[in-house]
Amino acid sequence: MTSDDIDRRHRFAQDCAREAGTIARRYFRSCEAPSSIEKGRHDPVTRADLEIDRFLIDQLAGAFPADGILTEETGGVPARHLWVIDPIDGTLNFARGIAHFAVSIAFCIDGRTESGIVYDPISDEIFTARRGHGAFCNGRPIRVRTTQGPWDAIVDAGYSSRHPAADYVRLVHGLLAQGYAFVQNGSAAMGLAALACGRIDGFCELSLKSWDVLAGLLLVEEAGGWTGGFPHGPGLLEDHEVLACTPAIRQSLRDLLLESSPLRGKTPLPSVQSVIQKS
Ligand code: IPD
Ligand code: CA
Repeated sequence: MTSDDIDRRHRFAQDCAREAGTIARRYFRSCEAPSSIEKGRHDPVTRADLEIDRFLIDQLAGAFPADGILTEETGGVPARHLWVIDPIDGTLNFARGIAHFAVSIAFCIDGRTESGIVYDPISDEIFTARRGHGAFCNGRPIRVRTTQGPWDAIVDAGYSSRHPAADYVRLVHGLLAQGYAFVQNGSAAMGLAALACGRIDGFCELSLKSWDVLAGLLLVEEAGGWTGGFPHGPGLLEDHEVLACTPAIRQSLRDLLLESSPLRGKTPLPSVQSVIQKS
């Protein structure tokens, strides 16, 4: 696949994300959003999730029929050329009328994310990254903050009911004990976008899916941040812990996450996949 092929997908995905966001906005403002069913504890799916999921599959399969597609609501299988999609990341917020959710679209080649789009339909901010070409918000370049240390840093520590609560409590306790400010905003994609544009300093969660984070992780990497990456291949279908932050607090957050993990030091976090330093 040529660079032009990737560019074409990168541009097309932005148009799709905006149209998907229009659907999300319509549901959100018409009070139809609360009609949801529970997939798990605090894990709803709404009619909007399903409609956007179908819309994005139809658009992408129509334009690029040879590409594979993996989405939260329909599933899929890993492929060499693969779209990884969350129609709405932050569905619990969406279903409760909290305006903090996003459409997330990533395009991967051979296990590497090449394009990432996170669209917030309420603020109308589109965060985009193409590997090697930087990260942008509404077309303007973005960079991670120059964090001084924990006392100066806000970390979004996402919570999932799929993971033992005791580990999460240990993680939050560790963050506060080291002097971090902590938030839990309910959308991993939005948390990573906020990190990429310097609003917060770190994002971590003990158990996440590929569709929640692949686009956002590329945003952080292209904005000069550090990420622990996410396994590709069959790993795309499993839950994994996720860490992304500004370079200054990387070691401190890695240590905290290791202490909080159920395996507690038996398996190391993924090795440093990328530290992009564009001074
Ligand atoms: C959820 C969000 C949330 C995270 C959960 C995810 P969804 O995704 O990313 O921030 O804490 O673990 O499941 O279900 O809203 O797409
Ligand atoms: Ca979702």
